[in-house]
Amino acid sequence: MRGLVYLPFQPSAAGLACDLVSVQLIVERVGTPAYIYSARAIREAYRALDAAFADHPHAIHYALKANSALAIVRLLRSLGSRVDANSGGEIIVALRAGFGPGDIVFTGVGKTRDELEQAIAAGVGTINAESPGELERIAALAAGMGRVARVALRVNPDIDARSHPNISTGLRTNKFGVPLGDARQLYLVHRTTPGLRFVGVHVHIGSQITTPEPLVRAARALVSLALDLRADGCALEHVDLGGGLGIAYEGQPVLTAAQYAAAVLPELRRLDLPVVLEPGRAIVGHAGALVSRVIDVKRYPDGRQFAVLDAGMTELMRPALYGSYHRIVPVVPRDGERIRWDLVGPICESSDAFATERELPELRVDDLVAVLDAGAYGAVMASNYNRRLLAPEVLVDGSEWTLIRRRQTIDDVLALES
Ligand SMILES: Cc1ncc(COP(=O)(O)O)c(C=O)c1O
Repeated sequence: MRGLVYLPFQPSAAGLACDLVSVQLIVERVGTPAYIYSARAIREAYRALDAAFADHPHAIHYALKANSALAIVRLLRSLGSRVDANSGGEIIVALRAGFGPGDIVFTGVGKTRDELEQAIAAGVGTINAESPGELERIAALAAGMGRVARVALRVNPDIDARSHPNISTGLRTNKFGVPLGDARQLYLVHRTTPGLRFVGVHVHIGSQITTPEPLVRAARALVSLALDLRADGCALEHVDLGGGLGIAYEGQPVLTAAQYAAAVLPELRRLDLPVVLEPGRAIVGHAGALVSRVIDVKRYPDGRQFAVLDAGMTELMRPALYGSYHRIVPVVPRDGERIRWDLVGPICESSDAFATERELPELRVDDLVAVLDAGAYGAVMASNYNRRLLAPEVLVDGSEWTLIRRRQTIDDVLALES
């Protein structure tokens, strides 16, 4: 545990374990690289957030983009979660996992006509609209289909999330949403547009946010807008604060679910409306690890030492994409002094590195290492670059484990080609 957060990957007599199962035992069966997730960690993270908002009507719409493995989505459904889908594919995943269309909020900065049609035909709970043009397209499509689309407008409040620039979305220079100052007028213009029904207001200012201020400012701005819209006679059903709650990749103190709720609830209480939350990373981030095998070790004359792994940016892109930090641990650590390692992937890109100058015990070819906190934005961002094959995914629940996605084969990949 770190604070109140359950960390599922811990040393045991048999080497690293996920909950009660030996990591080595799993990869002996499924091979490497492989993703391993803990059901308990997902349950605990979901329940912590749910409990934190217990005093206020709320709905947690898990952001599928963080990890949309069907078994994980089904697990979240069993906990009472709803979902945030970011594409037509994610809508299908939600429906396959057993969610009703009303449980889905459909978000995304660029939705195609086909996706909008799919969402309207399915009758998703809310479409979070990103622009005046999108509102018009939704209205035209819905009216043409004889439907009324339930929409919320995503506003851009020009707030710095103080996260990595690549995952900040609430600044006026970002592509997301409509300027906060334009929102009221847009609601007024479209109040009676056939095919549209405004049911909410939406904001999402970024991801991996670790301090309360930006989230409080966003909540304040959104609630003020909702109060203005109510004064205009607009009957809203919810305010949607998006996701963004960060996790402690480096063991640093971060905002807990309880602190997040304590920070935004005073704003939400200015309005007697339910809040929608769209957390992704905070629910699944700590739950997953990418387990990989050392396939080469190199020592340079200047003392630099490389451990080349059989996993790289094709399996976990975050370090290459954002320079992000992941804890890395040997599955069975060797005794002796700790030395500095560059842990790199096998891809022909210098950005294909998980860590530089990381102090670890000696590593040898065939040793196993686990890249921790890889449950969010890990497997979902994997690619077939270099014709590499998507890694299998395993879900551990207590002392049981299940292969929830098999390793992709080259035939799976080539089946798409003529
Ligand atoms: C609209 C929206 N909602 C929710 C999320 C989930 O964010 P996080 O995983 O940081 O909670 C994202 C991710 O960027 C998003 O774009």
